[in-house]
Amino acid sequence: MIKIAVLGYGTVGSGVVEVIEKNRDMVNKKSGEELEIKYILDLREFPGDPYESKIVHDFGRILADDEVRILCETMGGVGAAYDFTRQALAAGKSVCTSNKELVAAHGPELLALAREHCCNYLFEASVGGGIPIIRPLNYSLTAERIEAITGILNGTTNYILSKMEYEGADYDAVLREAQEKGYAERNPEADVEGHDACRKIAILSSLMTGKNVDYRKIYTEGITKVEPLDFAYAKQMGMSIKLLALSKEAGDKTLAMVSPFLIDAGHPLHMVNGVFNAVFVRGNMLGDSMYYGRGAGKLPTASAVVSDVIDCARHIGKVIMCFWDAEEADLLSIDQVERRFFFRVKTEGREKAAELFGRELKEVRLASAPDECGLVTSVMTEADFAERYGKLAGVTAGGRLRIEG
Ligand code: HSE
Repeated sequence: MIKIAVLGYGTVGSGVVEVIEKNRDMVNKKSGEELEIKYILDLREFPGDPYESKIVHDFGRILADDEVRILCETMGGVGAAYDFTRQALAAGKSVCTSNKELVAAHGPELLALAREHCCNYLFEASVGGGIPIIRPLNYSLTAERIEAITGILNGTTNYILSKMEYEGADYDAVLREAQEKGYAERNPEADVEGHDACRKIAILSSLMTGKNVDYRKIYTEGITKVEPLDFAYAKQMGMSIKLLALSKEAGDKTLAMVSPFLIDAGHPLHMVNGVFNAVFVRGNMLGDSMYYGRGAGKLPTASAVVSDVIDCARHIGKVIMCFWDAEEADLLSIDQVERRFFFRVKTEGREKAAELFGRELKEVRLASAPDECGLVTSVMTEADFAERYGKLAGVTAGGRLRIEG
C-alpha cells in the first residue's frame, strides 16, 4: 500500500480526494498498488467532513512519516508550498502539483532536487487543467523538435471572452460567475491580467526548449482592455477574440508572449469556448496536433493531479525524465515580431490613419458605431506599429488588437 498526503484542502485538494475515492478501483489497478490518503494538511478545521480525521495542521508529521511516499501539493503560491515541496523531495517523497506559480518560478531546481533524491516532481495539472499536455510533451512528442506552441491556457478569461462574444454578457458579472464555478484564482487579477497564462506558457516553453524560460521576461497583456464593441468588429470580420499564449522558435531565440488576439474562423483555436482550453503544438516531423479539454475547475484539475500520483506510484525509486535545465532561454523582444494589427479611429482620425499606415489599410464599418471605423494594417513589426499608432493619440476610438495568423 502507498500512503499519500494532500497539502491544501481547497478546490483542487478536495477534488483530488474525491477522484481517488470515486475511482478507487481504477486508480489502484492502474497504480499497481493500493493508494490510501493518510493525511490532509490545511490550516482550517473541517467539522463533519468525511475526511475530518485525516486533517493535520503540522507538515512535520507528514514529513516524518516514512509510509507517506507521495504528496499532492494543491496549496498554490510560492511561500509554504515551495518550502514543503523542497523538504518532501529532499526526503525522497514524490510531489504532484497543480501549482503553476511554483513550477514556473522554481521548476528546474525542484526537478533537480527530485532527481538527486530518486523521486519525482510532476506537474500535469499546472497547465491546461485536465488536458494532458505535459505528459505528451515529455513522453509522446520526444522524437519531435517542437517549433511552436499556441494555447488558450486560462479557463476564466476564455469563459469571460466567450460569454461577452456570444451573449453580450457584462464583464464583471461573468467574472463573478467564473469565480463561483471555481475557475478563477484567489486573486482574479492573475487571470484577467494574463499572469496565469504567462506562468503556463513559461512552463510549456521551457519544456519546448529544454531551457528555463523566465516568466518575468514574457511580454504579457490581459483582457481588461477588450471592449464589447471589439467583439462586434470581430464578428463583422468573421473573427473571434482569444487570449493566446504563444511560444515559437525564432532563429536561435524563442518568442514567448501572452495577449488578446483576433483569430479568424479557420484557426484551430477559433471554436475553443467557455472554460475549455486548447494547446496547439507544431512539431517538425508530426506537423500540427492539438490537445483540448477543460482548462479549469475542481475535478478536471484534480484528475490531472491524480494521473501524476499514479505515475509516481508506478515509478517508486525511479526518476521520470523531464528535460528542463536551469540554463536560461534567450527570448526574442516582441518589438521585432511582424504581424497585422486592428485598431479603431474616430471619423476625424481616418485620414491621418491613412497617412500614417498607407492607403492599403482595410476598413471595417459597423452600423451601430457611425462615428468611428475599424482598420486592419498590412504586416509590420510591433515597433513600427507602436510608433505610427502613437501618433494617433486623441483620435483613436478604443484599444488595438493583434491579429494571429
Ligand atoms: N484560474 C485558472 C484558469 C485555473 O482559469 O485557467 C486553472 O489553472
